[in-house]
Amino acid sequence: MPTSTLDTPLFLFGLTTGVALAAASQFFINSLTRSQSQRSLAATAAAALLAQQQLEEPEDLVAGALKHGNPSTHLTPSGRDAALSGSLPALRRQSWSVPSFVAADGTLPRLEMEFTVSSKKLQTMVRHMVNEMRKGLESDGHMLKMIPSYVVARPAGDETGSYLALDLGGSNFRVCMVELRGQGQTAIRQSKHMVSDELKTGSGEALFDFFATCIADFLKSIGIDPKEKRALGFTFSFPVEQNAIDHGTLMQWNKGFACSGVLGVDVVNLLNKAMKKAGMNITATALVNDTVGTLVSHAYRDPQTFVGVILGTGTNAAYVERIADIPKWTGDRKNITDMVVNTEWGAYDEQSILPITSYDQALDRASNNPRKQILEKMISGMYLGEIVRYILVDLVSTGELCRGIFTPKLQTPYAFDTAYMSRIERDHSLELSDTKAVLENMLDVHNTTVQDRRIVKHVCELVGIRAARLSAAAVAAIITKMKRLDACTVAIDGSVYEHYPHFANRMRDALRELLGIMAENIVLEQARDGSGQGAALIAALHAK
Ligand code: BGC
Repeated sequence: MPTSTLDTPLFLFGLTTGVALAAASQFFINSLTRSQSQRSLAATAAAALLAQQQLEEPEDLVAGALKHGNPSTHLTPSGRDAALSGSLPALRRQSWSVPSFVAADGTLPRLEMEFTVSSKKLQTMVRHMVNEMRKGLESDGHMLKMIPSYVVARPAGDETGSYLALDLGGSNFRVCMVELRGQGQTAIRQSKHMVSDELKTGSGEALFDFFATCIADFLKSIGIDPKEKRALGFTFSFPVEQNAIDHGTLMQWNKGFACSGVLGVDVVNLLNKAMKKAGMNITATALVNDTVGTLVSHAYRDPQTFVGVILGTGTNAAYVERIADIPKWTGDRKNITDMVVNTEWGAYDEQSILPITSYDQALDRASNNPRKQILEKMISGMYLGEIVRYILVDLVSTGELCRGIFTPKLQTPYAFDTAYMSRIERDHSLELSDTKAVLENMLDVHNTTVQDRRIVKHVCELVGIRAARLSAAAVAAIITKMKRLDACTVAIDGSVYEHYPHFANRMRDALRELLGIMAENIVLEQARDGSGQGAALIAALHAK
């Protein structure tokens, strides 16, 4: 059952000024009023959710969808009729929206079944994930790392000053000068640098030297002497075991990185050493994950933000947890009521729940981190295009696509970028002309028929919808764990959420299936540049 906000500890310790206290009280009053008027609705919805969780699939998915007033989910009109007339064999054939161009005896109907994730499955995933979160908070060594971030204060909105921030996400490294102007306002100047594959897989020293050079060049470009003494916030978007706000050892590389000499080493120390070697007088004073930065920077504007999510090259989420619910935290609990926890949800890999296909398995085997980050490999931008490529190769090999003709590009790992999926999913032309252009220009696949292009588009939809639904289930798990079903803003950054067409809507639809009416209380909000600004804000909070 959802709790009211009455027993929800707020982050009031971070709010030190009179203005901030007034704003916080207003927020408290607003949420109280809303939660009272919504409580009975929420109770009904919670009961409905429980009932839905007893269902079996796929027929029960339909029954559940009908029962909870969402009969359109995955159902063709004839599927809906079949459901209503209780004709289960007919339903089995009809309940998935199989397009007319799909041959009944080909590979596509199998793909439909394998990639479609029912509400029931998502619900099972939510329950299991909540359990795994509890285990990870209890002790180390579990599926979800649940890393305490040492961030115990969210910004009051009144922080001011200029702060340097670094952001190593996936494909890019950014150096930012963030000006905090108070009242939740910021201005940012930044330089962005591509991290080459050589750097990603070379030595750690080369990587950190590269960072130092980028910082010095950027500072010079904005007229600042790199020798000036200053502090910086470092967003480092990999699983790091933190034992202080400015200290953390790398537990695992992800997203194609595999630099030597960094695993098990304090990355802040590596950065400080590289900056010193380059003659700079700069010290990293805060180390943050991008999800933590996203949460904190969004909370600067919207105090209801309790979750930060990245759906980009990689995926992950951080949220605000009660310190009392982090038994493994051995630090000083005095004056601390809450702490931001980095879940590292990309590592979720429950085989009995996740719809892992042979394509996912092939991708995982060929990756440079096999058997790791299984959820991440099903939903993040680094991998979605590659899953599609595996499927297309299969369809060509069976002769169901492109008359069985391969091109070298189609057989090249990672040649099918996730951005191509976005273009194809956005293509609503009759002849699918942009899909044709993508296939010709990017993959050297020529002379495609409209039928070929429809198949390619449909494959992108299957992979894209699965990703959005799994992401929604992961968000629902966090909200459920926090018991914030009555009001919560989720700040989401990353290229997949921002640029992949329909991703946000598909997530919202799945959240509605999972949470019913309570999904209306959950605001999914696009956050931009969150991680860099967040690092600057955290550096500011720690300078306070
Ligand atoms: C990393 C996380 C990070 C996420 C998003 C994952 O691969 O393990 O630490 O937050 O990518 O960038």
